[in-house]
Amino acid sequence: MPHTKPRHVQVVPKASIMWSYLVLRPSVAAVAVIFSIVVTRILKTILIWRRIKFVPGPPADSLILGNTGDSKCPDRHSVISKLSEKYGAILRRRLLDQHVIQGQLFGKSVASAFNTSNMKAQFPNIRLACGQLIDILKSLDGKTAVDMDSALCRESLDVIGRVGFGRDLGATRNLSEGDGPGQAMAVTNAALFEAEHTLLDPLRGYKIWRKDVRAGTAATKEFHKVMQSLVKSMRTETPDPSSIAAHLLEIKDPSTGKPLDDKRLLPEVSTLFMAGFETTGHTAAWVVFAVSQHPEVEAGIVKKLRGLGLLATSEAPDPRPIQWDDIPQLHYLTATIKETMRLYPVAGGATYRHSKSGKDVALCGGNFILPGGVDLHMPIAAVHHAKDVWDEPYTFKPERFLEDGAEDAKGVPLVSGRKPQRFMPFSQGSRDSVGQTLARLNLTATLAQLYGNFSFQLAPKMGGAQGVEASRRTAITLSCDKGMWMNFGQRVQ
Ligand code: HEM
Repeated sequence: MPHTKPRHVQVVPKASIMWSYLVLRPSVAAVAVIFSIVVTRILKTILIWRRIKFVPGPPADSLILGNTGDSKCPDRHSVISKLSEKYGAILRRRLLDQHVIQGQLFGKSVASAFNTSNMKAQFPNIRLACGQLIDILKSLDGKTAVDMDSALCRESLDVIGRVGFGRDLGATRNLSEGDGPGQAMAVTNAALFEAEHTLLDPLRGYKIWRKDVRAGTAATKEFHKVMQSLVKSMRTETPDPSSIAAHLLEIKDPSTGKPLDDKRLLPEVSTLFMAGFETTGHTAAWVVFAVSQHPEVEAGIVKKLRGLGLLATSEAPDPRPIQWDDIPQLHYLTATIKETMRLYPVAGGATYRHSKSGKDVALCGGNFILPGGVDLHMPIAAVHHAKDVWDEPYTFKPERFLEDGAEDAKGVPLVSGRKPQRFMPFSQGSRDSVGQTLARLNLTATLAQLYGNFSFQLAPKMGGAQGVEASRRTAITLSCDKGMWMNFGQRVQ
């Protein structure tokens, strides 16, 4: 009799092979891919480490996370300055598998929206936003403290609304927290806070079991919704030709030669919105704080305002509105704003550069080679507080900016034939702040009008200057965690 295998003996092993083929092979392949990615990244990290190990830097807190723990302090700006004081002007850190060189180096499509003629055309809008804030403050008794950080962020939000998008966002119509603009500000702040934390903890997005991570993700989604509605309104309402929105709509996508679609427009609008109002608002609040601690500085500002007819006096209780031509004459106020931006650079840790070509880059006139694959962090705060280029770096002295060449780093050799700079609140180079002209204009015009009408004192609940310093917080931008509560008096009752 011929030997025949029972059918089921053949079928069962085949099915199990198929099963393992279908189920095991994709998972084995996935594991192999993940394994090779991890190994490649580890090898790359080790290779780069061998090239930069001579650069001083803090020891890693953890084998895997590297120096991400350095950044746990709520004020990243002061962490950066302290690291520079300890390890020198150029230092290295590791964030997970990413090597970073932190270096104090002394050293755009919507740009035309910020040219002089557009800024001049938009000047009345800046004056209008500030005028609304002044009216609200005048309607209050001044004995009840006001959070000037929030008030000045509202004012900047209205400036961005009008100058940027030709829209009245109504942020300075009242100062109540729960209104629409107040909610938009809170969402932006929460989204920035989440961005800051994600920057410091690359694994944060995966920690979905944490309530703060879930809240941060929700805030970011909400922020995107607000931005989507802004983009929609830009498309439906024709913006003023001198507004940023009009310039954005004219940009052509280099890959298609057509105007930007919503997907490309959204990040541009979001960056302008985020970068535009918090930075200016917090800077103005730091000025109001710093001046409240230095009555002699306030007296200097007031003297000039009186000379220009911009001060409320008993003879002229309503000073004349500020004009475009007044701005260059306000030297002392400008010096005060610069000194505040030196001490409290609100975007003081924000400048990062990544070599796109992946090749080595020569820095400091060739004295230092940045190996390809290593990111460069340029900590503006550390440059602004470096004692080798600033005399008494932690003392508030606006007069230093009245001297010729105050922004040059003296005693530092020329770099590529140019004088290295020690003052760079808007960063430097081709990626510096595109909105700096608007920011400067808004700060000078707004603060001139505020000091023309009011004098501010730090509210007792802030715990004095020490309380403010102890509550510094970095959420991409530097602010005071408690807000900036001020009592104020009108120059003429
Ligand atoms: C006091 C106010 C401001 C400060 C201190 C400030 C500072 C900065 C800094 C340090 C950067 C990083 C630049 C770099 O990476 O090198 C930046 C980028 C930027 N800023 Fe400002 N900024 C201010 C106001 C504004 C305003 C009013 C706008 C627009 C309306 C604006 C728009 C931008 C944009 C779009 C970027 C990104 C530029 C890019 O990535 O190429 N900023 N800003």
